[in-house]
Amino acid sequence: MQREAALKGLVKEAGEILKEGYFGQKEVYKKGSVDLVTEYDKKIEEFLKPRIAELFESFEVVGEESFEGEIPKRAIFIDPIDGTTNFVHHIAYTCISVGVWEDGEPLEGAIYNPILDELFWARRGEGAYLNGQKIEVSPTKELIDALIATGFPYTKTQKGKDFRFVIESMERLLPYTRDIRRLGSAAMDLAYVACGRFAGFYEVNLKPWDVAAGILMVEEAGGMVSNHLGEPYRFGDIIVATNGPIHRQLLKRLGSWD
Ligand code: IPD
Ligand code: CA
Ligand code: CA
Repeated sequence: MQREAALKGLVKEAGEILKEGYFGQKEVYKKGSVDLVTEYDKKIEEFLKPRIAELFESFEVVGEESFEGEIPKRAIFIDPIDGTTNFVHHIAYTCISVGVWEDGEPLEGAIYNPILDELFWARRGEGAYLNGQKIEVSPTKELIDALIATGFPYTKTQKGKDFRFVIESMERLLPYTRDIRRLGSAAMDLAYVACGRFAGFYEVNLKPWDVAAGILMVEEAGGMVSNHLGEPYRFGDIIVATNGPIHRQLLKRLGSWD
């Protein structure tokens, strides 16, 4: 309980740093032609890493901006700013994501959008919460009534496999859904599935820090997470996360990919 409060407190403090950058001036750099990073991504990660390491002593902290090497068995994945492009362009769909994992399973997660002051939190077996209120996935039963979220990987500029997935999945799915949104933060997309705003989400080529907290959020809110074949999701797979009732329908429309 004390650790839970401390983790939430840290994420909220980090949110103050995010807000300072969001409403103020910031240095923006390019990791690739369209992949942005700012001084605030680094500041938030530097703020969180040592404090979270102290809180979870037997875990290794994996931060997006400093990670190199192999994923540890007991890991805490930090995305200091998920939705950096939104952060830079002043679009209030951006967050800090922290996910605690052991042996390939999520244990605890926090996703905080400080602009809207929305803190999503979940722990294995204890449900998912938004600002302290229990949340549940949407009751939507049919894909045609479902609002679905997706995202576009930075590799899209290479016009290779990932780009084809984005375009072809849209062709396969869009006519059979209420609509598809690309809002720009995978962690927020998963949190929005958890609280029923979206009925489903899918994306190719996400990194562990994008999904580490959100997967647990969806599962603890009563939803389902798998790869595109309906198998248990492993980092690196195409991710499909839904409320449950539309899962098979979404998988069927999405079909197979090599
Ligand atoms: C990105 C966002 C985006 C997703 C990209 C991610 P970042 O993370 O989650 O929605 O489509 O694939 O890389 O770069 O803003 O931390
Ligand atoms: Ca991210
Ligand atoms: Ca990021």
